[in-house]
Amino acid sequence: MNVKLQFHDPAAFAAPLLAVFAVDIATGLDASPSPALLTTSDALAKAAAPWLTTGEFKAALGETLLLHAPANTQAQRLLIIGLGRSASLSIHEVRKAAGIAVRFAKPLGLHELAIAFPEDKALSDEHMDALPCDLTARAIAEGALLADFDIDFYRSDRKDQSLHTVTVVHTEADKKSEAEMQRGLGEGIIVGESQNFARTLVNEPGNVLTPTELGRRASTMCAETGLACEVHSTKKILELKMGAFAAVTQGSPEPPALIVMRYEPATPPAEGAPLLALVGKGITFDTGGISIKSADGMDKMKYDMAGAAAMLGAMRAIALLKPAVRVLSILCSCENMPDGAAFKPGDVVTAMSGKTIEIMNTDAEGRLVLADGLHYARTLGATHLIDAATLTGAISIALGQLNAGLFSNDDSTTQLFLDGLPISGEKFWRLPCTDDYRDQIKSQIADIMNTGGSRYGGSITAAMFLKEFVGETPGLPPANWIHLDIAGTAWLDDAKPWQSKGPSGIAVRSILEWVRSYAKTL
Ligand code: BES
Ligand code: ZN
Ligand code: ZN
Repeated sequence: MNVKLQFHDPAAFAAPLLAVFAVDIATGLDASPSPALLTTSDALAKAAAPWLTTGEFKAALGETLLLHAPANTQAQRLLIIGLGRSASLSIHEVRKAAGIAVRFAKPLGLHELAIAFPEDKALSDEHMDALPCDLTARAIAEGALLADFDIDFYRSDRKDQSLHTVTVVHTEADKKSEAEMQRGLGEGIIVGESQNFARTLVNEPGNVLTPTELGRRASTMCAETGLACEVHSTKKILELKMGAFAAVTQGSPEPPALIVMRYEPATPPAEGAPLLALVGKGITFDTGGISIKSADGMDKMKYDMAGAAAMLGAMRAIALLKPAVRVLSILCSCENMPDGAAFKPGDVVTAMSGKTIEIMNTDAEGRLVLADGLHYARTLGATHLIDAATLTGAISIALGQLNAGLFSNDDSTTQLFLDGLPISGEKFWRLPCTDDYRDQIKSQIADIMNTGGSRYGGSITAAMFLKEFVGETPGLPPANWIHLDIAGTAWLDDAKPWQSKGPSGIAVRSILEWVRSYAKTL
């Protein structure tokens, strides 16, 4: 899908469908809705006026009204999309509305769509600057591209309902904001395509996307974007003494993949500058192993590599946006299968860091591969670590499917991540990861166990396990670390008006903003 920006009167722009956004400017709990268009075009305002004044359209978030052959406009159809109350207007509503426009056009079989660039100056002064033009352009591009994604990739009757072109039409612009808008749009295209790259990987079935295939797709992406990439397998995992990762993969005939990617900024950063590491859980299928899962819904466990996919999406965007900070990424990919060679409950394994782990449940495999991935990143010099993983079912019990879980050993690292959320529009909720939870993973016969003693606080004990591999370790300085548990948010069970069901691509945008925040502080 091609997304472009044109400076033109939107009413005079010929298109099969023109989308225009509206907000409800009413304030106060009991106030009746007062819809207003986010455009300064008189012709569009006139065409929409009868429907806005009658109360037929209230501009609630996600509400749509389709008008055919609107008077004095070149578009064949005008689609008015509500963004909700103007008081709470942000670029995230714009991202969603652009997505709604695309998902409205697709089933109509339209291949061209125009979106009137939302202008907050169409409202009174108090609402100005809710929509900075660069971020607005970026959000439109992201929303449009994300909405174009559908999961029916393997259907023989898959219809090509993909839009060919989305034109964002802006009335006029001074030179300065024109350049900002173009830059924003360009960023949005990179981010939207990178997130869709991650979603495509997550959507792939386990028989297609084996760890080896994940390695191939990573190398191809890296070759296309100029990242350095190495893909290793069993030999290297054993050489590095990654006993935890090796234990998980040993029950599968599919070889594991240890994927290492590197981004170096064009100007080498000063001595002592941070090295960020993005570590991802890449279990291409999780049966649970000998502690086998029940058959119900097991098919979904193909998405147990969504953490690795998020890192691949983020690395792609980093390679193309070129922030001034060094970034390393380690993906630990394998299958978790039960067979005669599989690891068993009761086994004790030694992680790369030297810590011994008593296996209580082979279904708690993600933390095992990440333990070695995090430690390896530190041995390569990482100062700041972020991992993403579909780690625990318990995170959905704690936070539902709206917020992903965030755990960290450092407040300022966390703050930088949280500061990026208004731009990314993603939701993460910090949960505790303090040492008073450590008792729950103490083992009788080894250093730690791979599950907590009880089901209580399952996501916290998983995070506490990972924390063992980022703190005090002989010969290594402790690292600042963030863990993202995306098990509840990486797969949408139901479609949204702006997004298909299936892989959400969660965390790509927020990780990217976090990485960029280190470039800004240099
Ligand atoms: N991959 C699962 C977590 C998961 C569950 C992801 C549901 C997506 C949806 C993980 O490997 C797992 O099985 N975790 C166990 C841990 C338990 C054995 C301590 C869980 O959450 O039940
Ligand atoms: Zn598992
Ligand atoms: Zn898993």
